[in-house]
Amino acid sequence: MLKDRFGRKHNYLRISVTNLCNLKCVYCMPDEILSGRAENKYMSVSEIYEIAKVFTDLGINKIRITGGEPFVRKEIAAIFTKLSDLPVTLAVSTNALLIDRYTELLKNCGVKNINVSLDTLNPEEFSSITKSNTLEKIFSNIILLLENDFRVKINFVVMKGINENAVIEAAGLTKNFGVEVRFIEYMPFKGNKWSAGKVYSHDEILENIRSKYNIYKIPDEPNDTSKKYGINGHAGNIGIISTITKPFCGGCNRLRLTADGKLKNCLFSKGETDLLSAYRKGEEIKQLIISGLSEKEFERGGQFESGKIENRSMVNIGG
Ligand code: 5AD
Ligand code: SF4
Repeated sequence: MLKDRFGRKHNYLRISVTNLCNLKCVYCMPDEILSGRAENKYMSVSEIYEIAKVFTDLGINKIRITGGEPFVRKEIAAIFTKLSDLPVTLAVSTNALLIDRYTELLKNCGVKNINVSLDTLNPEEFSSITKSNTLEKIFSNIILLLENDFRVKINFVVMKGINENAVIEAAGLTKNFGVEVRFIEYMPFKGNKWSAGKVYSHDEILENIRSKYNIYKIPDEPNDTSKKYGINGHAGNIGIISTITKPFCGGCNRLRLTADGKLKNCLFSKGETDLLSAYRKGEEIKQLIISGLSEKEFERGGQFESGKIENRSMVNIGG
């Protein structure tokens, strides 16, 4: 079992398979030009599988595939197919733009949980956040996923002055659809133009939703990142991910592997452990994983207290 210095058991790995994306969300994609897939900097399909296998030997039993956008990677079908051999629950985070091509594959690989980014239901606002006109396609793909019985969570990053007016309408999606709509406090990453003033907090989100709906608390699970609420008479529920104003690190069970094969022990960790280079040299990576985890800080990479955060951009970490 992978345990850190604080006794937290880690059984959940998020693997980024590409840092490329077909959208350019302001909170995620920096202006710097991304040149993904150059040389052989990124893990190949078999490297992803072999490295993931070592994690499962260490007790990882849940893997989430992330990007960039996972489905822009040409070998994505092979990645899911290989990973479905491992004794893990497989999940994916996506913008859903291409997912209609992959529903059969995902079913065959036993993928049930799909998190979809969607930060407004207003077409103009959507275009200005993502620099694309794909809201209609994404929305119809979300319906398609629900019709195919996937468990869908919608991730809505709330930015003050940009999309907080869309919170109520998004919460309203839970009326007829059995989805969880998760409102996420805007987090700082390299090049994403974050400022404390743009954070729309957990309390503001709740107050906003309460102005229209009668909500009640639903118990959270020990490793949950979101605080869950139900709305009277609605099929789905809502969640709030409050990394900035109410961090939830005490129950953290997550590790991350970037597309270039570096272990990050926290979304906000400054340090990284280069598993891919070691693997390519034929070295044992088990010990590297254990020592990478042993350096994990208790809360948010230990970086928020200093006020200066050194990290990658979100698209380069992988959600
Ligand atoms: N702040 C909060 N959430 C973010 N995400 C990406 N960037 C940020 C940010 N700066 C969320 C998106 C995506 C998930 C993987 O991470 O909602 O769905
Ligand atoms: Fe885990 Fe880091 Fe997120 Fe806290 S900030 S929950 S430690 S990944």
